[in-house]
Amino acid sequence: MADPHGVLFVCLGNICRSPLAEAIFIHRARERRALDRFDVDSAGTGHWHVGGPADPRSIAVGAKNGIAVTSIARQVDPDTDFERFATILAMDQSNEATLLEWGAPRGNVRLMREFDPSLAGAERHRLDVPDPYHGGADGFDKVFAMLDAACLGLLDQLLRGPLA
Ligand code: 4NP
Repeated sequence: MADPHGVLFVCLGNICRSPLAEAIFIHRARERRALDRFDVDSAGTGHWHVGGPADPRSIAVGAKNGIAVTSIARQVDPDTDFERFATILAMDQSNEATLLEWGAPRGNVRLMREFDPSLAGAERHRLDVPDPYHGGADGFDKVFAMLDAACLGLLDQLLRGPLA
């Protein structure tokens, strides 16, 4: 079998959005019996939460939907991540800008919500996954729905072949 395709989900803190995206993608790939085709991880552009678990609200919304959110926060490492991961999903345009500034290959970085089929053709400013950190628990329900729709679209595209 070919080497697994590297998929890295990136947000700011790596405790709210990207660990949830990682867990949802793993869950959906496992459902499709395709998890062995992927090397999946998440990371943050910031360093504040490195070594800690995901935010309890991300763990709770995952659990409510039957998905365990277990990843431990780490910061993006340009020296290894840009080689290891052929597909890098930024949760918002700010995360995307940081990744490009740090030297991620332009063609490998995409906005997460580009893969939500219901947003096909949407303007880029509508594609951010909002940072739920400073809001209430309902923000996490909304983020979960956004990430699940995007994960399903991403998985469909990656299982069809290389991203256009
Ligand atoms: P995330 O949310 O980027 O979705 O993990 C945040 C978590 C923590 C902080 C910012 C955003 N923070 O500033 O500590």
